[in-house]
Amino acid sequence: MAAYEIEQHSYDVVVVGAGGAGLRATLGMAEQGLKTACVTKVFPTRSHTVAAQGGIAASLSNMGPDHWQWHMYDTVKGSDWLGDTDAMEYLAREAPKAVYELEHYGVPFSRTEEGKIYQRPFGGHTTEFGEGPPVQRTCAAADRTGHAMLHTLYGQSLKQKAQFYVEYFALDLLMSEDGQCQGVLAWKLDDGTLHQFNAKMVVLATGGYGRAYFSATSAHTCTGDGNGMVARAGLPLQDMEFVQFHPTGIYGAGCLITEGARGEGGYLTNSEGERFMERYAPTYKDLASRDVVSRCMTMEIREGRGVGPNKDHIHLHLNHLPKEALQLRLPGISESAKIFAGVDVTKEPIPVLPTVHYNMGGIPTNYWGEVLNADGENPTRTAPGLMAVGEAACASVHGANRLGSNSLIDLVVFGRAAAIRAGQIVDAEAPIPVAPKAAVDAAVARFDKTRHASGAVPTAELRLEMQKTMQEDAAVFRTEKTLAEGCRKMVDVAAKLDDIQVTDRSLIWNTDLMETLELQNLMPNALTTIVSAEARKESRGAHAHEDHPERDDANWRKHTLAFVTGNRVQLDYRPVVTEPLTALEAGGIDPQKIAPKARVY
Ligand code: FUM
Repeated sequence: MAAYEIEQHSYDVVVVGAGGAGLRATLGMAEQGLKTACVTKVFPTRSHTVAAQGGIAASLSNMGPDHWQWHMYDTVKGSDWLGDTDAMEYLAREAPKAVYELEHYGVPFSRTEEGKIYQRPFGGHTTEFGEGPPVQRTCAAADRTGHAMLHTLYGQSLKQKAQFYVEYFALDLLMSEDGQCQGVLAWKLDDGTLHQFNAKMVVLATGGYGRAYFSATSAHTCTGDGNGMVARAGLPLQDMEFVQFHPTGIYGAGCLITEGARGEGGYLTNSEGERFMERYAPTYKDLASRDVVSRCMTMEIREGRGVGPNKDHIHLHLNHLPKEALQLRLPGISESAKIFAGVDVTKEPIPVLPTVHYNMGGIPTNYWGEVLNADGENPTRTAPGLMAVGEAACASVHGANRLGSNSLIDLVVFGRAAAIRAGQIVDAEAPIPVAPKAAVDAAVARFDKTRHASGAVPTAELRLEMQKTMQEDAAVFRTEKTLAEGCRKMVDVAAKLDDIQVTDRSLIWNTDLMETLELQNLMPNALTTIVSAEARKESRGAHAHEDHPERDDANWRKHTLAFVTGNRVQLDYRPVVTEPLTALEAGGIDPQKIAPKARVY
């Protein structure tokens, strides 16, 4: 093995990732006087949160009546009763506070005539516990809400003297023998040096793994790096079978057209010019929740009513909306439609197709962001020294399906919660432990082995094979046959990592090595997704199983835990938390309101 010098750094808290969740956690930690570093593989304002368009959900009631309990109800129903009730209550209750904090930090929200934060309708967000009309709950900065948030949170974090390590690729968690996380090893991309970050607390905010699929709205950087590190550390991944397809990815390019487009009055049509959502979801129509709309679009295409020469996509109309409204509320997607679909939205419909967008599953945590080292017998056991927030985490607030605009609020509510919790459990006065040498040696050895890998399979070829398999066999609709085939193929695909070929051995800006390390992270994400999906014999949220079309609460209202060893996955399960945080008498939600029932829109 080559010799590597390792530069040492010591912090109370090291946050890995600088998207919305990572920055909110970093800011909160630093505000409390914890010595905080943020290690990120891309410049903070280029993190994937920058692509979040439509907005952030909170029951501010700026545009009409709303209530945190209605938001909670919608989230429970959206999750198809797989979300953890304590976490969902925490999200809905804390959301207004978290948004006002953002406002005070300086996020340039769009405004109403009276100067309040502008809010738009989004799919699955309703009034009166699903009995009333759609609610305007999604706070927006035009259609560039994530962009606005990232810039503000980065500036505020710098003001609090958080230390940023930009373009450092985190390689592995540094775990003690007794299972405590004591740091992370990272590779500095622009000079090739290795860095050991010793810490009392590591927070993974590494985002989702959309790039396990061939077509995704996610950035190419969304490679599930934190999930990969957790899987290698022998910890479980939770509910990985639940992958969200956003109804309106641009046909061909896959770029996002925000659900805010339908919130502002846009609608979908098939080849007969029919507004088909009226048939499937008579009450909320195009504003039904995402999994429902994606399935309806797929059914229209399968039944021969897709548009275009190959009848393989759907039209999204905005051309009936006033030009001024499009300019004011949807300038970004008007531009994206022009660039990526060649469409002038004021005149023509946008060609769209359900596209992989979000991972409901991830690293299991409680609602404080503490990572769970859970199994069936120890469902709430935590992994000391380790937290996860944002899309990398599974708190679980989204259960089997996330509502649009509940992602940005998840980032800030749980980034903030992790900071509050760290303020309670991290002793700023105590000495910072040095991570164990054995863990460092193992991480360096894996890095070096990958760098010198001289097998027969080029990284790009294997990545494509994985992406095509996932796209075909873990799609919007799944069957026993596709899932079984997908599992068989993915086990073979993952085994080929042992025969990977890296041709560039250098250490500086080595994209060949970087992409291989990313592929090593993507693989356990893809494997656990398909194996967990194959095992779940029901349909729930984004998991639409054609051979088991009904939700089966008696047998399957439980979280999947997936443990990875090489190309093998072992499954276990833990119960869903069904108790709210607050009793009814103390001002909590009426448990009857959120009891499982048929999910119709
Ligand atoms: O459609 C969108 O703007 C996406 C929002 C989300 O995923 O929450």
